[in-house]
Amino acid sequence: MRKFLGSLIAAASVVSATVPTLRAPACAVGKGSVEYSKSVPDGGPFPRTQVGVCYSETAIEITFTALEEEHFFFNASQGTNDAIWEYEVMEAFVHRGTNDPQTYLEFEVNPNNVTFQAFIHNPSKVRAAGRAFDTFFVAQPLADGLAARTVLDRAARTWTSTATVPLGLFNVDPGRARGTAWRMNFFRTVVAPDTFPDQLLGAWSPPDQPSFHITPFFGNVYFV
Ligand SMILES: *[C@@H]1O[C@H](CO)[C@@H](O)[C@H](O)[C@H]1NC(C)=O
Ligand SMILES: *[C@@H]1O[C@H](CO)[C@@H](O)[C@H](O)[C@H]1NC(C)=O
Repeated sequence: MRKFLGSLIAAASVVSATVPTLRAPACAVGKGSVEYSKSVPDGGPFPRTQVGVCYSETAIEITFTALEEEHFFFNASQGTNDAIWEYEVMEAFVHRGTNDPQTYLEFEVNPNNVTFQAFIHNPSKVRAAGRAFDTFFVAQPLADGLAARTVLDRAARTWTSTATVPLGLFNVDPGRARGTAWRMNFFRTVVAPDTFPDQLLGAWSPPDQPSFHITPFFGNVYFV
């Protein structure tokens, strides 16, 4: 739903947002962590979701933890780069730099360990009606070093996915991540078989519309 609702935003809309900040260390030191429990766009209650971020010599490591999960709902017929966002996923949108991005990586993982990865070209920064919105799929994520590991704990109502995102996708050479500045946002979708396709949406930095593609809301991330 959100992909279509997002396109209703008027081209003239000007968004300015106050966004949160995450400082993330080298993985050898630990992880920078955030927790969110706010829905998109109203900021209402949402299942607790944690994200941990650190950097290694060659990659960003992102650990997504979905707490209070009731459905673990995915479509088993879906594979790499399919529309897994119609069901339940956790997501990171990633841009190296400090500006509100027009182009960024969209990474998603579902409870079945299936991933979606694409660079998005969104020149309006808000997915405005009548403006370009293009998706450049990363066709061979494993060959590129983009991978996930997923563990479900149905008794604890938790699922955790850890993603490895190569720094080279953002032209950060090996060993050069420290001191770099990023814009990121983290998202989760919640939907059950009996409520499909109407999703509950959640975000670290909730946009003001039921769309994830509003980049002025991306938070600040610093690799320290
Ligand atoms: C899963 O996807 C397939 C293929 O698109 C579709 O036929 C099927 O209805 C979907 N299942 C669910 C549970 O949505
Ligand atoms: C998940 O997918 C990755 C590739 O992205 C694979 O390496 C891993 O073995 C898969 N399985 C689990 C349980 O994480």
